[in-house]
Amino acid sequence: MRILVMALISLHALAGVFWAGSTLALTHGSPAHRITPELFRAQMAAAVLAIVAGGTLWGLVIGGAHGPMADSLAVGALCALVAAGVQGGMRSSPVMAQRIAAVLLSVTVVCMVISPYVT
Ligand code: HEM
Repeated sequence: MRILVMALISLHALAGVFWAGSTLALTHGSPAHRITPELFRAQMAAAVLAIVAGGTLWGLVIGGAHGPMADSLAVGALCALVAAGVQGGMRSSPVMAQRIAAVLLSVTVVCMVISPYVT
């Protein structure tokens, strides 16, 4: 069980870091930072991995528990789900979609990393 949680949290953090990091890198419209279809697909694949691993961790580690840690993770998870919806849905304004998602995913990262310390 410990090994499974360690493997899942590693996968979760790696996928999440790529998703959030690439989103932040694509917030300006310079040609060097063009959102290619390949990069967009990689981003969405990382989003699915982060969400599935995060949901599994939630089931294994948090379960039905309540409290500040669960609240912090829940706010982060909600922001991540909205970010995925914005990136997948706003296909006609990709740079704006990345900007909105970048703000939401920044909130996610902060909520996730402070969650063990909120009392
Ligand atoms: C729906 C989306 C998400 C869900 C349901 C979710 C769920 C979780 C859960 C339950 C944990 C706690 C695991 C544990 O303590 O064993 C966690 C930790 C973490 N999550 Fe997420 N997460 C989501 C999205 C993200 C994203 C997009 C990132 C971006 C980087 C991220 C980064 C992290 C990190 C770094 C931790 C480790 C925090 C620590 O213990 O220091 N998560 N997540």
